[in-house]
Amino acid sequence: MSNFLQNFFKAPDESVVGIDVGSSSVKVVQLRKKKGRAILETYGELALGPYAGFSVGQATNLPAEKIAEAIKDVLREANVTTVSAGVSIPFKSSLVSLIELPKVDQKQLQEMIPMEARKYIPVPISEVTMDWWVVPGEYDDELDFVQGVDEDNNRTQPNDRKVQVLVVSIHNDVLSTYSKIVQDASLSASFFEIEMFSTTRSLLSGEVNPVLIFDMGASSTKVYILDRGVVKYSHIINKGSQEITVSISKGLNVTFDRAEHIKRNLGTSSPQEEKNVYEIISLTLDYIFSEANTVILNYQRRFNKPVSKVILTGGGVAMKGVFELAKANFQTEVVMGDPFLKVEAPAFLEDVLKVTGLEFSTALGLALRKLQELG
Ligand SMILES: Nc1ncnc2c1ncn2[C@@H]1O[C@H](COP(=O)(O)OP(=O)(O)OP(=O)(O)O)[C@@H](O)[C@H]1O
Ligand SMILES: [Mg+2]
Repeated sequence: MSNFLQNFFKAPDESVVGIDVGSSSVKVVQLRKKKGRAILETYGELALGPYAGFSVGQATNLPAEKIAEAIKDVLREANVTTVSAGVSIPFKSSLVSLIELPKVDQKQLQEMIPMEARKYIPVPISEVTMDWWVVPGEYDDELDFVQGVDEDNNRTQPNDRKVQVLVVSIHNDVLSTYSKIVQDASLSASFFEIEMFSTTRSLLSGEVNPVLIFDMGASSTKVYILDRGVVKYSHIINKGSQEITVSISKGLNVTFDRAEHIKRNLGTSSPQEEKNVYEIISLTLDYIFSEANTVILNYQRRFNKPVSKVILTGGGVAMKGVFELAKANFQTEVVMGDPFLKVEAPAFLEDVLKVTGLEFSTALGLALRKLQELG
């Protein structure tokens, strides 16, 4: 009964918050729908390093209580006024696969999916929670599984009696940790979403050709290839922007904090110092770009379709010089992602958001989904 009343009296323009717990920081974005448009109300970020006794910019692996504490702190600091939330789950805690099945009815599909997915999931199926969607559109011979599992042998010929299904699984332990975080932080979260889906929601704008999203976070760089909005390939490169700070720290024999400062302030030191830093970090950056290029080549070889655009996101790409290096490394158009593209923000914030916005694509995508839920 009380639920019914709540729904009945729900304000039509309720605010929602997207919460992205990254490895180095937690980000929140509060949106509200007004006349069918998403309005930015507030946003904020808080480094997680200090909650683990580490530095700002360092990747963490915090227990649920600490994460909840950090979420409460950032919600307060950013003046978030709602508990109505969507929360992201790290890509590394999930398993996403695109599988191909015979075209059967929904009921049969429901029975077949867990049996088929069993082949790809390295733990008993009873230990994971699965979600799946039938990929709309033409049927072809595209078949892929992420995270390095090679299913070449399973490829079949184009067949209009086949259907592609995107299967997402998350370990139940991960889900219970996140439920605890949400409870401890006194939030009302109606969904958890693997960060890849949130990030792509805020960055894509109806591209018809394959696009690569390049998300350089602190602990890793995640690359996703999407065709007509559907994830066809995804991969985690095990180096991120933290690795660059570590290289500077070792190369210049300075503390992590000092190295982080140097990294974030490139462009303000002398040209000679800067040249020195770029030399030190080139190995890490070259590795990341060459891995991303391999992903593109593998995709193109397998699907015979060129990637037409690379969209950069994540705090790591805010470093001076990364955009230029990306342009030099990828044989295709490269753009900086603008997650705030789909929301209306006060004019005075526009320039700030272009720079700081890079870290918020996941939180924004979560808030956008939550707004859609309100109808
Ligand atoms: N202006 C800047 N210049 C250089 N590096 C920056 C800048 N701003 C943030 N970074 C770096 O970006 C990283 C954080 O990015 P982001 O917030 O996207 O990562 P995360 O979401 O916490 O991590 P992950 O996605 O790996 O879980 C840190 O390593 C930080 O040093
Ligand atoms: Mg991130």
